[in-house]
Amino acid sequence: MRAAIALAIPTLAAALPYNPLRSLFKREDSWGGAVSLGPTTSTIKHAVTTILPGTPPSSQAGELFLWPGMSNGTGDLVQTTLEQWSSGNSWCGASSDQWCVRASLFGSFGQKDGNASAVSGDQKVKIEYVLEDDNDTWTQLVTDADTGEQLSTFSYKSGPYMTGYGTGTECDDSCTPTVSDQYYYNTTLTLASADTAFGDTIATSGTASYKGLASSEGGAVWTIDEIYIPAGKASKRGLL
Ligand SMILES: *[C@@H]1O[C@H](CO)[C@@H](O)[C@H](O)[C@H]1NC(C)=O
Ligand SMILES: *[C@@H]1O[C@H](CO)[C@@H](O)[C@H](O)[C@H]1NC(C)=O
Ligand SMILES: *[C@@H]1O[C@H](CO)[C@@H](O)[C@H](O)[C@H]1NC(C)=O
Ligand SMILES: *[C@@H]1O[C@H](CO)[C@@H](O)[C@H](O)[C@H]1NC(C)=O
Repeated sequence: MRAAIALAIPTLAAALPYNPLRSLFKREDSWGGAVSLGPTTSTIKHAVTTILPGTPPSSQAGELFLWPGMSNGTGDLVQTTLEQWSSGNSWCGASSDQWCVRASLFGSFGQKDGNASAVSGDQKVKIEYVLEDDNDTWTQLVTDADTGEQLSTFSYKSGPYMTGYGTGTECDDSCTPTVSDQYYYNTTLTLASADTAFGDTIATSGTASYKGLASSEGGAVWTIDEIYIPAGKASKRGLL
């Protein structure tokens, strides 16, 4: 891969390969496998994936987060997240065997969120990040991939300089790790201009793997047919 993006958000910068991390890293956090791409020599202007999250653990000792994140390492982190909390997920109307999903943004302001919805483990969730025509506003659109029902949305002027994208399985405060495999299907990243070497930046960590990396439009559009993150296996250095 190319040089890792330097992360402004806390201390993992030196240790980790590129990953658009959530801002609140703590010593007791651990990580499942991940797949990431970046930085591009261009910028990302559109990103879409469909996650099949699998059923969460029957109870949660900490906080468990699944997300595809996008950032440039110093600016805002666009990060729709599937969440499970130790206090349960009734805050979004979920039952104990469901996730909550919401569009979230992390930055110098802290965290901003869209409204959350309940998601079942076998429900495919389409997560789309769109740079609007003003070339400044990023809209997160979260929908049920099969029915098109909107689950969450959030828009914010985070700027046109997004350069990296990656998955995260984040296990905070001694969480109970995932008990189901996670899949991300048909991930498509559209760049503002061609970057024929963007595919060379792909990195996997831990037990994660991918299938079907391809580009089109001269290197401006990049697709990954499937990203596979096996259940469990979170570790303090899971991304290394
Ligand atoms: C959340 O839902 C409330 C009530 O429907 C709505 O007024 C608000 O705009 C929504 N917030 C976002 C960020 O979508
Ligand atoms: C968006 O902003 C970037 C960075 O300033 C610039 O390179 C690009 O040409 C702009 N795109 C459009 C469509 O205005
Ligand atoms: C990241 O994006 C922010 C906001 O658009 C911008 O101010 C910053 O210069 C960008 N950083 C890099 C390394 O491109
Ligand atoms: C992924 O794309 C393939 C080919 O277009 C399609 O058959 C499949 O249904 C898509 N899967 C998802 C989960 O969107």
